[in-house]
Amino acid sequence: MRKRFVTVLLACSLAGGLFAQQPWFKDKDLTLTGAYYYPEHWDESQWERDFKQMHDLGFEFTHFAEFAWAQLEPEEGKYDFAWLDKAVALAAKYDLKVIMCTSTATPPVWLSRKYPEILIKNENGTVLDHGARQHASFASPVYRELAYKMIEKLAQHYGNDSRIIGWQLDNEPAVQFDYNPKAELAFRDFLREKYHHDIQALNDAWGTAFWSEVYSSFDEITLPKTAQMFMNHHQILDYRRFAASQTNDFLNEQCLLIKKQAKNQWVTTNYIPNYEEGHIGGSPALDFQSYTRYMVYGDNEGIGRRGYRVGNPLRIAFANDFFRPIQGTYGVMELQPGQVNWGSINPQPLPGAVRLWMWSVFAGGGDFICTYRYRQPLYGTEQYHYGIVGTDGTTVTPGGREYEQFMKEIRQLRGQVAAREVKPADYLARRTAILFNHENSWSIERQKQNRTWNTLGHIEKYYRTLKSFGAPVDFINESKEFSSYPVIIAPAYQLADKALVDRWTDYVKKGGNLVLTCRTAQKDRHGRLPEAPFGSMINELTGNEMEFYDLLLPEEPGKLRMDGKEYTWNTWGEILKPGKDSQVWATYTQEFYEGKPAVTTRKLGKGTVTYVGVDSTDGLLEKDILKKLYAQLNIPVMDLPYGVTLEYRNGMGIVLNYTDKPYKFVLPSGTKVLIGEPVIPTAGVLVFSIAD
Ligand code: GAL
Repeated sequence: MRKRFVTVLLACSLAGGLFAQQPWFKDKDLTLTGAYYYPEHWDESQWERDFKQMHDLGFEFTHFAEFAWAQLEPEEGKYDFAWLDKAVALAAKYDLKVIMCTSTATPPVWLSRKYPEILIKNENGTVLDHGARQHASFASPVYRELAYKMIEKLAQHYGNDSRIIGWQLDNEPAVQFDYNPKAELAFRDFLREKYHHDIQALNDAWGTAFWSEVYSSFDEITLPKTAQMFMNHHQILDYRRFAASQTNDFLNEQCLLIKKQAKNQWVTTNYIPNYEEGHIGGSPALDFQSYTRYMVYGDNEGIGRRGYRVGNPLRIAFANDFFRPIQGTYGVMELQPGQVNWGSINPQPLPGAVRLWMWSVFAGGGDFICTYRYRQPLYGTEQYHYGIVGTDGTTVTPGGREYEQFMKEIRQLRGQVAAREVKPADYLARRTAILFNHENSWSIERQKQNRTWNTLGHIEKYYRTLKSFGAPVDFINESKEFSSYPVIIAPAYQLADKALVDRWTDYVKKGGNLVLTCRTAQKDRHGRLPEAPFGSMINELTGNEMEFYDLLLPEEPGKLRMDGKEYTWNTWGEILKPGKDSQVWATYTQEFYEGKPAVTTRKLGKGTVTYVGVDSTDGLLEKDILKKLYAQLNIPVMDLPYGVTLEYRNGMGIVLNYTDKPYKFVLPSGTKVLIGEPVIPTAGVLVFSIAD
């Protein structure tokens, strides 16, 4: 079984990866590096000096017009691209390609004054105003129309220009929770379409017989208010789907307009990795997805006393593994070069940390890294934000020097590396997918049942284990084919239907190894409980029945045992009744259900199903379960300490040390060090070639 998967993976590798080869980035470049520049912020006489220095430091592209709508269209219908033409020409003179932006995040003042109906309205009635950014409603037809006109002009002007490599839409487009009257009308239209104009179908889906919530017409429906804590959560589920679709449609329409003109330029946007918002990857016209990531801003999410200067070891890795599988590649549009201005505390990164983050992006397969920003601003909201150069416009900051070093190293590696997909067989053998659907979080978070439950935290327990195994991980959604993954984990996958359970069953019967965890398949896609024994949608698959579930006080966690070792839990525990062919792996050791199973596994067809009916307090149980499973499947795993990660690409291994101590990496035999030393200091990096 394992052998077969490895063969399949290697065959895919030879064919250029599991995804159709994307045409935008070349293996031989490894990764491209660029920097944000806002020509409109600086005296024109300085542009050339700045681009020259940018080029001399090693940058290969820059990034323009992100917030420049007021300069691009100073009066309605009057466009001015002359200044931008000059900047593009000067950048080209210094071999800098350009990412062009659509600047929709900052409408000019004439737009807000002439068409105030475009402004976002908060739930409490406050209408946002000009003077900041991101104050326009994606649901406003007038805003969209004016944005599209400006974008069409921009695309006509630059869509055929070989100096422009690609486009970024908007800025960090988020899901808007906007109470603009147009949003309410659009919500009703969304529901009319979804329920085929049948209000009874909506009443059934939302369970409106409960508390007299029944509607007789779509016109009676309003946007749900968060101030009402017991708001119908089936309605909220649809509302969140609607809100995400507004952002997605806006981006998709922008992209299609650009693509009419731009045949050889890619289009993406720069999402904040808010995984549970539900919009990432939701605009199918985009060529790939990009993200922004800030690592050091105050709270200590890192390791040790100075961990706040290095950042959370898995923050970039998680984003890589989330964004890459959507379309096979990704870019990082914003990475800080030094201190930021918006954190709770804005410390200096530890020397080396900026370069560590760049290598972290590279390790996950990123095709470009763009730093926010080249120059530190002299005025405006972000005055204290570091750049590659400081306030005088020329002195390179410590982070700027680390960029320079990284770019030198990448150039050194170019020309001597293998194709992207050349990776060792043992690494590929532990390839694992985590099935993720943001709707599960939406649903569970409305009915957590235990205030200490954390859906993303539950998923992270598995993710962290997989990274300690040195496993390549893909977060996938249901649109992806399951069969190429030896193991798939679906954690707390609450919303399900028969079609999904059938797909899981088929995957297992054909040889896949599925791990399902507590809270899975308990509700249908509307968030309703099926009229059947609780949680029974997956009984045939897991072989179990659920007797009941229990929730405990965090200060008095419960205990369970596996292979003689004790573990603790409190947020959610299912008491299982195993079927005849289920093997019990862990049992509760306390309470009136002492001795009853919490974790089971069984063979089914050619594969296995493991059911973890409990969420442990510290992730140690999850780790030992996966260790046991992978050992049983003969999948070789590593045991890297938290804070050290290993990934492979282009025939190279990249080891990153986010811990507070030097880490001695034992090089696999036959490999050769390319960058760094086997004893990797804190914030250090080791790169080695897998073929001598
Ligand atoms: C990002 C944003 C950028 C800039 C940056 C500052 O969230 O997309 O435009 O404001 O923060 O760190």
